[in-house]
Amino acid sequence: MCVAQPLFDLFAVTAPGCETSCVAELDALGLPAVAEHGGVAFRGELADIYRANLWLRSASRILVRFAEIRACSFPELFQKSVRLPWGRFLRSQTPLEIRAVCRRSRLMHTGRIAETLTAAISRALGGNREPAGAQGPAQRVLVRFEDDRALISIDSSGELLHRRGYRLEQGAAPLRETLAAALLGEVGWQPHLPLWDPMCGSGTLLIEAAHLACRRAPGLQRTFAFEHWPRFRAGRWQVLRQQAMAAMTHPSALLLHGSELDPDLLAVAGRNAERAGVAEYLALRAGDFRHLSVPTGPGILLCNPPYGQRIGESHNLAAFFAEFGRFLRTRAVGWRGGFLLPDSGLARATGLNLRAGPVFAHGGLSVPLYLFSIS
Ligand SMILES: C[S@@+](CC[C@H](N)C(=O)[O-])C[C@H]1O[C@@H](n2cnc3c(N)ncnc32)[C@H](O)[C@@H]1O
Repeated sequence: MCVAQPLFDLFAVTAPGCETSCVAELDALGLPAVAEHGGVAFRGELADIYRANLWLRSASRILVRFAEIRACSFPELFQKSVRLPWGRFLRSQTPLEIRAVCRRSRLMHTGRIAETLTAAISRALGGNREPAGAQGPAQRVLVRFEDDRALISIDSSGELLHRRGYRLEQGAAPLRETLAAALLGEVGWQPHLPLWDPMCGSGTLLIEAAHLACRRAPGLQRTFAFEHWPRFRAGRWQVLRQQAMAAMTHPSALLLHGSELDPDLLAVAGRNAERAGVAEYLALRAGDFRHLSVPTGPGILLCNPPYGQRIGESHNLAAFFAEFGRFLRTRAVGWRGGFLLPDSGLARATGLNLRAGPVFAHGGLSVPLYLFSIS
C-alpha cells in the first residue's frame, strides 16, 4: 500500500538574479515552482527536501515554511507558538539559532522575539537546550514578521548551499558556486560546447560546468541540517545519494578552458578541481589571456573580470576593458558568452555590442551580466 506523504510548503532562498535558474532546476526535479521576492516557492514531501538540497545548484538554502501566526504581543506570540508541532523538526536538546526580521508590526524587538520563541519551544519539547556545538550544529529557525503576522521557517540546509565542499582555497573575489551555476544557465552553455574562462581565478565557473556536465549532484560532498531532524529517514537519504552517484556520467569530450595571470591562483584552481573530482576535464594555463592562444572553438566565453583592484601592471580599468573588447572582436570571432561587471561605463569601453542580461548580487554590489556574440 502506498501511504500519502505529507506535503510541505518549501522555499528555496536564492541570491538576486538566480531565481530563474532555480525555477528551471526545480522543474527538472519535477517540482513546479514560482519565483517570489528572495527566492522560489514550491511544495514537496520530505524526500523532496532532501532532493532539493542534494541537487539544486543555484539555491542558497531550502526552508520549510513551518507556520504562520498572527501576534500583537509577546504573550500572544508565546501562547500561539507553544502549540506548534516543533517536534517534527527539533529534538528537545537541539541548540537553536533563531533569526527574526520585522516590518510594520507591533512586535519589532527581534531579540525578544527570539527569546519568546526559544521559551515556547522549550516548553513545547521540554529538555534543556545546550549551546550550539554541544549537541551538534544549531538548528536555524527564521521568523519574518510583517503586518503583525509571523512566518516561521525551518532551515533544512545548515551551511549555505554554495559551500559544496570542494573550494577550500580561493582568490580575492571568487564567485559563489551558486552564482556560477546560474551564470552558466544564463549564457546557454551546454556540455557539448567549449567553455572558456580567460580570467578563471580559483576555477569556480569551470568546476561548476564540469559538475553540470557530469551530472554530479552538488550536495554529495557535504552534510545538511535535515540529517539532525527527529524524523530524518536515513535509509531514504542513502538511496537518494546512491541514485545521485549512479547518475554521474563521465563525458569523453568535455572542453573546459581556463587561464589566469596569477600562477599561484591557477594552482588553487587545479587543487579545487581535484577536490571536486573533475580535474581531468579542465585545461588550465597560466598567463595573460591576451598573450595566450584562443582555445579551439567557437564556444562560450564566460568570466567575471577583475574590477576595482589592480590589474597586472595597469591601473587603467577603461584601457583594460577596451583591450578586452578588442581582443574578443579580433581573436574570438564566432564565440559568444557574457561577463559580470558592475560598471556600465567600463562595459561600454569594451566597444562590444552588448545586451544587458539579469542583474546578480556579487561582492555586495548589483552586477549585471553583459551578453555578447562576436560575429
Ligand atoms: C574576479 S577574479 C575571478 C574569480 C573567479 N571567477 C573565481 O571564482 O575564483 C578575476 C581574475 O582575473 C585575473 N586576471 C586579471 N587580469 C588578467 C589577465 N590579463 N589575464 C588572465 N587573468 C587575469 C586576476 O588575477 C583574478 O584572479
